[in-house]
Amino acid sequence: MSHVCSGVDERGGISGSSIEFLGRTVRKTARSGGEEKLLAQAEHMKRLAQKLPGHVLKPIKTDSCGYSMEYFPGISLDVFCTMCSPYAAFQRLSEIVTLMHDNLYAKHNESYDIYAYFDYLNKRLESYGRLAGGASELNARLQDLRACLNGKTALEHCRAGLVHGDLTFENILLTADSFVLIDSNPSPSYFAPWALDVGKIRQSVFSFYERSKYSGAQSREALEKVYLYIGERFSRLFPVWSEALDQQSRFFEISHYIRLLDYKYRTSPKLSKYYYDLSLRLTDELVRSMRVAS
Ligand SMILES: Nc1ncnc2c1ncn2[C@@H]1O[C@H](COP(=O)(O)OP(=O)(O)OP(=O)(O)O)[C@@H](O)[C@H]1O
Ligand SMILES: [Mg+2]
Repeated sequence: MSHVCSGVDERGGISGSSIEFLGRTVRKTARSGGEEKLLAQAEHMKRLAQKLPGHVLKPIKTDSCGYSMEYFPGISLDVFCTMCSPYAAFQRLSEIVTLMHDNLYAKHNESYDIYAYFDYLNKRLESYGRLAGGASELNARLQDLRACLNGKTALEHCRAGLVHGDLTFENILLTADSFVLIDSNPSPSYFAPWALDVGKIRQSVFSFYERSKYSGAQSREALEKVYLYIGERFSRLFPVWSEALDQQSRFFEISHYIRLLDYKYRTSPKLSKYYYDLSLRLTDELVRSMRVAS
């Protein structure tokens, strides 16, 4: 068998796993204690594979300490962004969004209890607060946001189903004529609002850590234009949802930063402070815009 590549990447990401490249196979192994999380990820990817066309998710084989799948000889979308214009990357993103819509979101369209998600975020914030010595300001801001929901706001009317859960540019691998999705996230549950995936795309477009990798540092203005382009695409796909898209995806973008806080605190307290302040600022903006709209 010809070996396309080999090696071990110990960086592991949030699940604390290691990745090995063995010929045509990629193996993800849990570090001690992380087995349950990794197997939940494998199970989630199997569920996604049942809904998405075969070429988009590689078949997964699980065992007691992780899973393996076929190696896909592509580059991730964030690397693609550094090699060509972000517009070309967003063209590819449109294909992916359309496919997600047609195969996942449009097929399982249920209402979602956003208040339960607020409770979940409060727990994440408490856990960060224990590490960082408090998170009262952001907690108060989330309470303000919650208080804005009055039975009429778009945020209260999320549509939900099976989503990828971690649809960052890093988890989309591309070749010239194909792509695969990797590294889904079933947390906090398999069933989640579609806007969670859109919020993740927002995070990829605007977030500091991926933006810092774009060579030639795209200006915020250029990125906003690009995001509008995605917004148009989503609006066409979700006519009923289009007005709600902005509010919901902004909320879920913030939620992704909040969910990162305690993990980031352990690896880089400075970066977690950056995400904390960013969440504070974006929540403020969202509260202000919701007050104006109501
Ligand atoms: N099937 C695959 N084919 C080619 N490369 C892959 C494949 N799966 C993973 N990779 C490469 O390995 C990297 C890490 O894999 P993955 O995204 O699954 O884990 P992670 O982001 O490190 O972990 P975590 O789940 O903890 O966030 C990917 O960004 C990609 O470059
Ligand atoms: Mg990943």
